[in-house]
Amino acid sequence: MTVQPQSINESQLQETTPLKLWEQIKEDWIAHGRDWTKPGFRAVAIHRFGNWRMKIASKLLRAPFSIIYRFLYRRVRNVYGIDLPYCVKLGRRVIIEHQSCIIIHGDCVIGDDCIIRQGVTLGNRYRDRPFDAPKLGARVNVGAGAKVLGGITIGDDVNIGANAVVLTDIPAGQTAVGIPAKIIKGNRE
Ligand SMILES: CC(C)(COP(=O)(O)OP(=O)(O)OC[C@H]1O[C@@H](n2cnc3c(N)ncnc32)[C@H](O)[C@@H]1OP(=O)(O)O)[C@@H](O)C(=O)NCCC(=O)NCCS
Repeated sequence: MTVQPQSINESQLQETTPLKLWEQIKEDWIAHGRDWTKPGFRAVAIHRFGNWRMKIASKLLRAPFSIIYRFLYRRVRNVYGIDLPYCVKLGRRVIIEHQSCIIIHGDCVIGDDCIIRQGVTLGNRYRDRPFDAPKLGARVNVGAGAKVLGGITIGDDVNIGANAVVLTDIPAGQTAVGIPAKIIKGNRE
């Protein structure tokens, strides 16, 4: 019998993040080892800021914040090589370890306490299906260089091995390695 990956409820994800902007950023700073100089922390903090400014209903009042956000987003992308658009549904305490070649599709969902490392792509698989993007549950541990492609679902507590290319759903609690990624066992790192 095939085990279905745990479905990820996006509205639940939003409900679990009712923190104010500074509370969110403080939590992210703690998750990143209290080091504000880490590129991953900066990328996440700017993502939070990008979302916060969208709550300003008036376009006119929002405009200066949008200018600042776009400047900072491009700076993080161009300097650190971390492309994390504000429209990604990012859970709490997500850690971006290291930097460079980290590309996250704008329609991705990333659950609480996930770890994303250098060289990771979470993106679409086919150019003619540009909006297909992966959904990661909570505590997904993505190894360096891994590529997770297409509208697939990665369950809670999944380990994705370094340099894996994941093309199919992975049920909760499993470890997937290789190209294309195959499940090896249910242990955590
Ligand atoms: C996937 C991972 C979590 C596996 O950990 P594990 O559950 O302890 O698995 P094991 O080490 O027992 O390996 C099980 C099998 O998978 C293989 N394997 C492990 N990681 C692999 C990987 N990334 N790619 C391909 N095969 C891998 C092992 O060689 C072993 O194969 P074997 O049974 O034929 O000997 C770990 O190897 C990994 O890739 N972690 C990523 C960490 C990372 O990115 N670090 C960078 C820090 S900057």
